Amino acid sequence: MICFSLFFLNHHENNKFIIETLELNGSAKEGDALFKMNCVGCHGITARGLVGPDLHSITQRLNDKEIIKQVTGGLTPPMPSFEIDPVNMSNLLKYLHSLE
Ligand code: HEC
Repeated sequence: MICFSLFFLNHHENNKFIIETLELNGSAKEGDALFKMNCVGCHGITARGLVGPDLHSITQRLNDKEIIKQVTGGLTPPMPSFEIDPVNMSNLLKYLHSLE
């Protein structure tokens, strides 16, 4: 019973995080800086892919909600789950949208 309610809480928090993120209009420049600090080791300095896949046109394959889950979920090792706030998540999304 306790496990169930904890799961429910987390699930609820998760949706709240997604909604808050999607309400923001992030900055691609800030997102670029974040990407350089956290993601280039695996996705490459220009996001063309290394250990992780090329992320150009990712926003045509995944919607924002799916991308948020990818970044925060830790569901596809070796990619870690990132502790990120909605403002920075929104900045990252804006950056990913700026990649053709
Ligand atoms: C330790 C390496 C690593 C780091 C660091 C990393 N990733 Fe990944 N990423 C991966 C791997 C590997 C995959 C492919 C996972 C799979 O098998 O689906 C992936 C997949 C993704 C995908 C989905 C790609 C697709 O084609 O479906 C997105 C979006 C993504 N990463 C974004 C990011 C962002 C943004 C960051 C920085 C906040 C980041 N990643 C940091 C390794 C990494």
